[in-house]
Amino acid sequence: MNTQNTPFSLSRRQMLMGASAFALSGMAPRFGAAAAIPKHVLKAQKLDAQILPPDWPKTPIWSYADTHPVPVLRVKQGERLQVLLQNELDQPTTVHWHGLRIPNAMDGVPDISQAPVQPGETFLYDFKVPDAGTFWFHPHVNSSEQIGRGLHGALIVEEHNPPKVDRDLVWVLDDWRLTQDGAISDDFNRGMDISHGGRTGNFVTLNGRASEPLKVRKNERIRLRLINVANARLFGLNFENHDVHIIALDGQPVPPHSPKYDMVLLAPGQRADVILDCTGDAGSTHKILDIVYENDTLLFNELVYEEGEPLHASPPGPVPSLTPNRLPEPDLGNAENHEIIISGGAMSRMQGAVYKGEYRPIGELVKDMRIWALNGVAAHTTAMLPMLTFAENKSHIVTIKNETMFPHPMHLHGHSFRILSIDGEPVPNTPWADTVLLGGHGTAEIALVADNPGDWLFHCHILAHVQGGMTSVIRVA
Ligand code: C2O
Ligand code: CU
Repeated sequence: MNTQNTPFSLSRRQMLMGASAFALSGMAPRFGAAAAIPKHVLKAQKLDAQILPPDWPKTPIWSYADTHPVPVLRVKQGERLQVLLQNELDQPTTVHWHGLRIPNAMDGVPDISQAPVQPGETFLYDFKVPDAGTFWFHPHVNSSEQIGRGLHGALIVEEHNPPKVDRDLVWVLDDWRLTQDGAISDDFNRGMDISHGGRTGNFVTLNGRASEPLKVRKNERIRLRLINVANARLFGLNFENHDVHIIALDGQPVPPHSPKYDMVLLAPGQRADVILDCTGDAGSTHKILDIVYENDTLLFNELVYEEGEPLHASPPGPVPSLTPNRLPEPDLGNAENHEIIISGGAMSRMQGAVYKGEYRPIGELVKDMRIWALNGVAAHTTAMLPMLTFAENKSHIVTIKNETMFPHPMHLHGHSFRILSIDGEPVPNTPWADTVLLGGHGTAEIALVADNPGDWLFHCHILAHVQGGMTSVIRVA
């Protein structure tokens, strides 16, 4: 078992700053007192952050806040959220609210929903949050580099009647590609990453830092909100000796259930809310392993039970269900059918694709590293013609076929969809999601009501694949 968080020989103690998650509330925006003052400010900026353990050098990252770790915004379901983005980077940026079903103008996609926010400029995001759940936000300009350098945060939309837990923790899962001196490796255009599995890192973090054991007490009930913000890495967490229950996926409640293969699987972009009941003995220690990569199991973290009295006299009772959000139910019997074919990448038989408005043979695509296509089109910008048009307020079933060797977590903006089947197998309870993971040569069937008008991105959340052309637009009109 390789438990090395390569390439560094570090102590495997990864830390947890989730409990002290940085709240942005109360930061004063820098503009005239007359203007309505938003509660939250995201200042995209350069920052030196302690990603590696304390005795290692700091890492120059890009951040939304003046201090590390990853910012966490908390808001109540139905509340109005106003967030002022200040761009102090030297390149344009935006904020996309991943998984939120909000109006198109607030979606943060350059050239579709807004002009990119130039250096020194600001943009006010202002919308109501429709669904309770675990969401996140990140730029949608030069995403591979901007997210890869650290621009992301968690958005927690609290239920009006949250389940009773002893602690509610946000765990932002990430990996970073660092050099020996702790800097972020600047190879964001590596052809190998674009054409294969994406830009995986060599240092895994929890809330933007090396993780430290989670101290728990016997009979404690913890809600863990897991968010995979990595550019390409999958996470599959296994909680040794603990029977965790998934209660929500991609922010949307699911009937509580144990994860398949005892592994909470998260592709880039995906979230899972899990109930961790601490049923171990005082003084005991249990591993949290990342078992998703065969032959490369990683010790992700540890649960360490404190000595002494249990937190409660008896173990927590039945796992609570969350109240479902109000989503429009697709009418499968009267739905329009659509198909999306994913092609390209290394070792593919793709002969060519439409690129910059014209069919080009693969040799020409390779020169620009635009080697992934959705329905035969390799994207070079988000300002593109719709790949599909969905009649507004109608039900739609989309069959997605992955004709490539690689897994792709496919993400749709502005909507949640039900996952009907994966590889032809019906998915129990057809969970709502905004990102569905297709295996190499896999298929998925999803269904939704197209109730949010506008042009919406549909893309892979492996960000190097986006660089490689794997973006498309679906129009709801
Ligand atoms: Cu999380 Cu279009 O992205
Ligand atoms: Cu992909």
